[in-house]
Amino acid sequence: MRQIQKVLIEQKTGKKYVVKDVDDDFHTSAGVISSADLKSSKNIVKSSKKENFVMLSPSFPDLWENLQRGPQVIAQKDIGLILAKTGVNQNSIAVDAGGGSGSLCFSLANVCKEVAVYEINPEHFAILEKNKQLLGRSNVLLKQEDVYQGITETEVDLVTLDLPEPWKVVVHAERALKLGGFLVVYLPNLLQLKTFVDSTARTGITVLETLELLERQWKIEDRIMRPEFQMLGHTGFLTFCRKW
Ligand SMILES: C[S@@+](CC[C@H](N)C(=O)[O-])C[C@H]1O[C@@H](n2cnc3c(N)ncnc32)[C@H](O)[C@@H]1O
Repeated sequence: MRQIQKVLIEQKTGKKYVVKDVDDDFHTSAGVISSADLKSSKNIVKSSKKENFVMLSPSFPDLWENLQRGPQVIAQKDIGLILAKTGVNQNSIAVDAGGGSGSLCFSLANVCKEVAVYEINPEHFAILEKNKQLLGRSNVLLKQEDVYQGITETEVDLVTLDLPEPWKVVVHAERALKLGGFLVVYLPNLLQLKTFVDSTARTGITVLETLELLERQWKIEDRIMRPEFQMLGHTGFLTFCRKW
């Protein structure tokens, strides 16, 4: 998969386009942007239909929106909380399993020094490899392995688990984490959560809290200012644990 080179935003409508090949002219519903303009350092370019486009280098959210999707991804609202509550930074080493489509692991890699990713399913692993190319991330180590068999990394700051049986990873996570490191488990179902919490008894993993985030967008248009009728409700429970 080619990397995204430019992002074009049509000024009138706010419609966004991603450009992967600046050697070719780019066609939009509001006209064609020439290759010469795409290769230039201009901030504003004009299409063949005289519409203005803002031209930007892609930001991480632009890239994230364009990840190839396979299995259900972790939503940005949940990723934000994981980053905030674990405080990972440019010195942090993280382990993520299962990698899935990479929504979480590449968001971690945008902040952390290194991220090792375990993904057992070959089809999902292929999606991860494509997305790694799309994002041009060299600090992500993709491992086509069963995390239930163990984690080889040690002294890590964070382990994140988004897979059906995280209780099979508790002892491995305990061994991989440095003292004070975080284990974050994402589960859609309370029965799974109960099994996971029970599995931490008599281990060095302490459950701190479980919570869920509900996201409600608002419609702000002329004199309309109200919540949207549809909302992103339950996605999953986040359980934050720490090794001590
Ligand atoms: C819901 S997806 C993860 C989505 C991912 N968190 C994201 O944000 O895109 C769950 C993934 O766990 C993988 N998985 C399940 N059991 C596993 C195991 N034992 N070891 C490694 N990966 C596993 C599945 O193949 C699947 O891709």
